[in-house]
Amino acid sequence: MQSAVCPGSFDPLHNGHVEVIARASNLFDEVIVAVSANMHKSPLFSLDERIAMAQETFSYFRGITVKPLGGGLLTDFCRAQGATAVVKGLRGPQDLEYERPMATMNRHLSGLETIYLQADGRYTHLSSTLIKEVHSLGGDVSEMVPRAVHRRLTDRSADRPADRSADR
Ligand code: PNS
Repeated sequence: MQSAVCPGSFDPLHNGHVEVIARASNLFDEVIVAVSANMHKSPLFSLDERIAMAQETFSYFRGITVKPLGGGLLTDFCRAQGATAVVKGLRGPQDLEYERPMATMNRHLSGLETIYLQADGRYTHLSSTLIKEVHSLGGDVSEMVPRAVHRRLTDRSADRPADRSADR
């Protein structure tokens, strides 16, 4: 059985991620979505929320499971899961520049291979950062994220209404 890991912070998961992970699941018997604690960024959603959104979204897919990446190395996580490859989506050259050193480091550490899937043209403009910004400024992101994510984004804005003081 061939397993692959799709790692990321997924803060939040968007439809570009979903499309790449779904395509990865056509290539491997099992795909593990590994949600990172995101040590270099301050995430909008907690790890538990990011895992819950991914679990809800991928519950409709066969062969895809969601797990926390944990606090260790991705190479150790992949070994523990019996995964032979990491799968990442590429929107453009800037993604390759970002991914290349990590892929090389992972191969150096343990021989772990990284496979890149070209993002579908419908999703190359999507990023978690832009989606959070557009949503926080009142833009409609409902076609860019899974329903589980949109619901939580909407719940959050209901909890914390936007500051309209500058409108006056
Ligand atoms: O979505 P992101 O934030 O770009 O994902 C980055 C991630 C989680 C894939 C990367 O930070 C990672 O692999 N973290 C695990 C710790 C590790 O192995 N670090 C060395 C990477 S070469």
